[in-house]
Amino acid sequence: MKIREAIKGLNMYQAGKPISEVKRELGLTDVIKLASNENPLGCSEKVKKVMMEAAEEINLYPDASNFELKRALSEHLGVDTKRIFCGTGSDLLIRVICNLFLDPGDEIIMGGVSFQRYEDSAQIMGAKTVKIPMKNHRLDVEAMVNAINEKTRIIWFCTPNNPTGAMVTKSELFSVLDRIPEDVIIVMDEAYYEYVTDEEYPQTLPLIDKYPNMIILRTFSKAYGLAGLRVGYGIANEEITKYINSILGPFDTNLIAQAAAITALKDKDFLKKAVETNTTGREYFYREFDRLGLEYIISQANFVMVNVGRDDKDVFNKLLRKGVIVRPGHLFGMNNWLRVSVGTMDQNERFINELENLLKE
Ligand SMILES: Cc1ncc(COP(=O)(O)O)c(C=O)c1O
Repeated sequence: MKIREAIKGLNMYQAGKPISEVKRELGLTDVIKLASNENPLGCSEKVKKVMMEAAEEINLYPDASNFELKRALSEHLGVDTKRIFCGTGSDLLIRVICNLFLDPGDEIIMGGVSFQRYEDSAQIMGAKTVKIPMKNHRLDVEAMVNAINEKTRIIWFCTPNNPTGAMVTKSELFSVLDRIPEDVIIVMDEAYYEYVTDEEYPQTLPLIDKYPNMIILRTFSKAYGLAGLRVGYGIANEEITKYINSILGPFDTNLIAQAAAITALKDKDFLKKAVETNTTGREYFYREFDRLGLEYIISQANFVMVNVGRDDKDVFNKLLRKGVIVRPGHLFGMNNWLRVSVGTMDQNERFINELENLLKE
């Protein structure tokens, strides 16, 4: 058996601990998960109904062309269907982008503390990752672009950035775009797009015309509450879209996911409630962290990074024993920090109470 060298060094992605695992391992019954940036409201009731209806046809293959979903997205975004591609979560689309553009020896550029899957997906292709140190926990867009060399094939702008929550502003983005060569693909990973409240956030859809090397990624996993269903999408020029579709399998979005995503786009009330709950929760966290004297990073996403000033592994484990799952910062190279997803107000309060008790020890 000959395993490719590039694959041998690949680390398994460490996802947030599932509730069932924590209950099983620690013998707990009441566990909350604020670890994977999931939607605490669940998903839209209308979407649930449509999923049950779609289940009646589950013996059939899904529409390989994603015709209805692309049409719904096209209306929603004001973009031609020929520029839209869909996949099993934006995670798959990240991998497919790497399949399309990376040869062994090529390089990608990403933030020093950003979404790990860019590096993993590059490594699968035998490409090298260049990580540019963060500036005040924010992507240093200027330094990232200055690092482009003849080997660079993709530059990843994760905005809002996971795990720090900070966004790239209009002025930061517009000051560098013209300096990125056309043979370097610019990926705007906007997984948390819907949660952004800052007006300095750049709207990137109109940029696709001007920058044929730009790809935008979004997902139904976060604000639409469909993480378990696995459906994400991207927008790019027709040529890139055509190649991405040629790599994607014919059935990379399933029948239930297609129906659910179409309905999710229509249920504006659910989305509004999800975003409002998140904004209120973020602000509550800021107030509480201020009260507790803890440093935190202002977030445009559905999670906040907080510096607990002591070993994050220890705090993580103690919180776990109290039935609260968060993400310890050392996983991202941010020792002493925790990433906490915004939950319902009850969940947020429970996290703060447990954290406060623990910090008093
Ligand atoms: C920045 C970013 N991009 C992409 C993804 C992948 O999301 P999904 O595959 O659920 O669409 C995530 C998930 O956490 C993320 O944080």
